[in-house]
Amino acid sequence: MCGIVGYVGARDCSDVLVSALTKLEYRGYDSAGIAVFDEDNNIKTVKTKGKLKDLVEKLEREGKPDGHVGIGHTRWATHGEPSDVNSHPHSGARVTIVHNGIIENYIELKEFLISKGRTFLSDTDTEVVAQLLDYKYNGNPLETIDDVMAELRGSFALGIMFKDFPDRIYAVRRESPLIVGVADGECFIASDVTAILQYTRKYYLLDHDEIATLSGDGVQFVDEHLDPIEKELKTADWDMEAAEKGGYPHFMIKEINEQPDAVKTTIIPRIKDGLPCFEECGITLEKIKDFKNITIVACGSAMHAGMVGKYVIEDLARVPVNVDIASEFRYRNPIVGEGDLVIIISQSGETADSLAALRLAKKKGAATLAIVNAKGSSIAREADMLIYTLAGPEIAVASTKAYITQLAVVYLFAFELALAKEKVSAAECKRLVSALMRMPEAIKYVIDNCEEKCKYISTKLLTADSLLYIGRRLDYALSMEGSLKLKEVSYIHSESYAAGELKHGTISLIEDCMPVIAVATQTDIIPKTISNIVEVKSRGAKVILVCTDACARELKEGVADYVIELPHTEELLMPITAVVPLQLLAYYTSVNRGNDPDKPRNLAKSVTVE
Ligand code: F6R
Repeated sequence: MCGIVGYVGARDCSDVLVSALTKLEYRGYDSAGIAVFDEDNNIKTVKTKGKLKDLVEKLEREGKPDGHVGIGHTRWATHGEPSDVNSHPHSGARVTIVHNGIIENYIELKEFLISKGRTFLSDTDTEVVAQLLDYKYNGNPLETIDDVMAELRGSFALGIMFKDFPDRIYAVRRESPLIVGVADGECFIASDVTAILQYTRKYYLLDHDEIATLSGDGVQFVDEHLDPIEKELKTADWDMEAAEKGGYPHFMIKEINEQPDAVKTTIIPRIKDGLPCFEECGITLEKIKDFKNITIVACGSAMHAGMVGKYVIEDLARVPVNVDIASEFRYRNPIVGEGDLVIIISQSGETADSLAALRLAKKKGAATLAIVNAKGSSIAREADMLIYTLAGPEIAVASTKAYITQLAVVYLFAFELALAKEKVSAAECKRLVSALMRMPEAIKYVIDNCEEKCKYISTKLLTADSLLYIGRRLDYALSMEGSLKLKEVSYIHSESYAAGELKHGTISLIEDCMPVIAVATQTDIIPKTISNIVEVKSRGAKVILVCTDACARELKEGVADYVIELPHTEELLMPITAVVPLQLLAYYTSVNRGNDPDKPRNLAKSVTVE
């Protein structure tokens, strides 16, 4: 997973590339580089291990390439450790490229090229593509690219410069995302539209195996047979401000604060006359009423949103729901087929395993519904039905506002399904919808009232080696998300457990002062969770309890060391507010440990490789 950019136009190309790359650092940040045609039409490449700021320093030290045509890259290493030499761009004698994705057959291609006398500088699969382009180069870039694409297996988005054509760059993709932006007299490529929003909102979505030529004459597209094609020009409705930090120290905390608006923006257009309405997404009561089984497939936080979905859909619509991790689902023989609904949840819409799971579900004849944030992404385009979460761009690697909007959509969809199945009356459905409409306010209340407490409690977690998150039912689904959030940004080990399962082994881990974060928001099972809390507390755990205000009022002295109280809302909807303190605890623990919560080590935002 990497970010790629390219530019052709009158501006200083190095400046444009670096500035666009700053918006893509969420995709990878272990090395960066640019290549620009200089005034003598030579390709000048500057690249370095480290973050983009290290590249900027190097450009200042060594002088930035002066020119108007070039490509750039920010890397998240897959083949070869992060190093100067493995950084992109990579070159053959007459070709320089940047690449996002994975070339699965790069070893056999490399062996072939070595047998032809080629030598390699790096360990990357990308250099193999650069060398192959150079090896096959016949003076016609489009034919050469087409020829090479026929040999590549895997996923790729490529920005390509041919030394003989200093007025242009080429772009092509298969599986990995790539857009082509256009403005007056200039054009761009980028892995994500946020990279170029400062220059233009107009863009084209490049489709699989299409090739774009970007030059002073604008952009031309050809299909895989090299026949010219017309493409639809799109307009991004995300603005620059949404992709900037807006005064917050990190994107993660900015995005936590954006959650009330994100939920409101996501649900309002899907409510009509007080009832859920997904007609604009092609979803009607008639269309969904006959599904007998539902499988939700996703990865990471999106899968945790699916876990909440399982409880809610089963509870309200009485349809059995199976939740599966996409990387597991795709490599077994899942029991889904005609008459079943498979829901894929994904922020980026490009997660390789989730995309593969979607394709498998379709192949098996199941109807598919995508819940996706990134407009025009592969999952959004390929699913039979589509509901966008309208969270806006999520830049921090750790998902917050995208997760909460996934919850909002899952709830509304569950209400709609329950109505379609005649398991709730229209009046009851309206009551649930109106409770959901009050949630943005409740989220804001929790942020305003819990942030300081979470900040303080986080200071008690700093030196912990390991934590447990416990809860039952919906609170368990939420514990999974809380635990992931904490470990990914703080680097403290944590696990989530169904509270009742602790005594079947895991309780032996409890020792003096081990933090246990318990979630208890579901009235009928609060006493059960409290008895699990007592069990860990009596073995020395430090308990942080996230619970409803009603539960807090009835709590006996000394049961928990710290209590975070949540306002009363519809109980089924509690995960929407209860996740907020868990996000804040993770954020402040990360910051207090000196980490960068926006760019956790070893992670990237969009996992477009397996
Ligand atoms: C965690 C996180 C990841 C993603 C996962 C799926 O904070 O963000 O676990 O949820 O990688 O990504 P998407 O939703 O883009 O498919």
